[in-house]
This record gives sequence, structure tokens and C-alpha cells, in this order.
Amino acid sequence: MRVVILGSGRGSNAESILVAQQAGRLSRARVVGIFSDQPEAGILSLGLRFNVPAMFIDPAPFKTKLEGEGETRFIAAVQAARPDLVVLAGFMRVLKPGFLNAFAGKIINLHPSLLPSFPGLDGIGQAFRRGVKFAGCTVHGVTAEVDGGPILDQAAVRVAPGETLDSLTARIHALEHTLLPTVIARLSEVE
Ligand code: GAR
Repeated sequence: MRVVILGSGRGSNAESILVAQQAGRLSRARVVGIFSDQPEAGILSLGLRFNVPAMFIDPAPFKTKLEGEGETRFIAAVQAARPDLVVLAGFMRVLKPGFLNAFAGKIINLHPSLLPSFPGLDGIGQAFRRGVKFAGCTVHGVTAEVDGGPILDQAAVRVAPGETLDSLTARIHALEHTLLPTVIARLSEVE
């Protein structure tokens, strides 16, 4: 299963996928490309380290969504990698029908909350401020509804007495780093 990863940030989840691949834990999946909408994103440095093509793609003209010329550039770059699966690992842009239709049924997203609670930005902060007793992360199929597609898997932790936003964030990131590679491995086995 050919996997393309899209991300905007430091890339710790992309790293967890690549580490799992190196360790032989990705089953039949293989990362074939990493693309970012941020030229300085840490995720791009993984390319050299893991010997995978990694590239900035100009997302202009919009700031928070992928549409118009930027969308066309992303579709072309991702299509060239011939993915069976497109993984959004911290890709902080809303996808529109052009991209969604080009890779229909092949896109999954990692979100740092127990969906359907706390979609959108800052899922961990939203949950923490709401005082939930369980928090976690979700991997779901991507549809036109933001953070609304079918849930593939989730992982949860109990919020500890005296928990801070920082400690909860660290614990949820640790859950993400196991959950996402596990889901990818599972998907590759049924492909
Ligand atoms: C992750 O926590 C992921 O759940 C979140 O961005 C972070 C990326 O971290 N995604 C979203 O909030 C999407 N709505 P990373 O760059 O270290 O993998």
C-alpha cells in the first residue's frame, strides 16, 4: 500500500509512521511521499532522514483551506506519487471537493480528540477546558464535513487529578504515535 503523508507541523506523527516502517511494523504499507503547505515545517526534514521524497507545495492563494491553484498543485503532486492512502498527519487546512474527489475513499485524518467531541482547532485544549474525564485521539476517514468522517479507531486516557494542559498534551501525543501507525498497518492488511 503506497502511503502519502501531508502535514503542516513538526511531523512527530509522520516520524512515528516512518519509525514503524523501519521496524517492520507497517505490514504491507510503505511511505512514498511527504508534502507540506509550510516551507519550514519540521515534517520536511524527515525526507532526508528516512530517504523519502519530501516537498513543500505552495498552497496559495488561501490561508486556511486548500482550493484553487494551490489545490491543483497538491492534487498533481500527490497523484504523481500514486498513493493508495493519503494520511493527514497535522495538515492544518480544510480540504475541498477537488482534492477529496481526486482521492475519494483514500484519505484518513488524525485528530487530537475523541470525535465527535471537540472537532476543529485545538482539540486537546477544548477538551481540557471543558473538564472531560477521558480525552484522546481519533483516526477517521475524511469527508467534506470537517473532522466528521467515519471513525476508524480511537485511543483514550483518563484525565488525572492535577493534570495540566501540557501533561495531557504529551500523553495524547504519545497515544497518537501508536494509534496512527497501527491503523495504517491494519488498513494495509485488508487492501
Ligand atoms: C497532532 O496532534 C494532530 O492530532 C493534530 O496536529 C498535530 C500534529 O503534530 N491535528 C489536528 O489538530 C488536525 N485537526 P505533528 O506535526 O507532530 O505530527
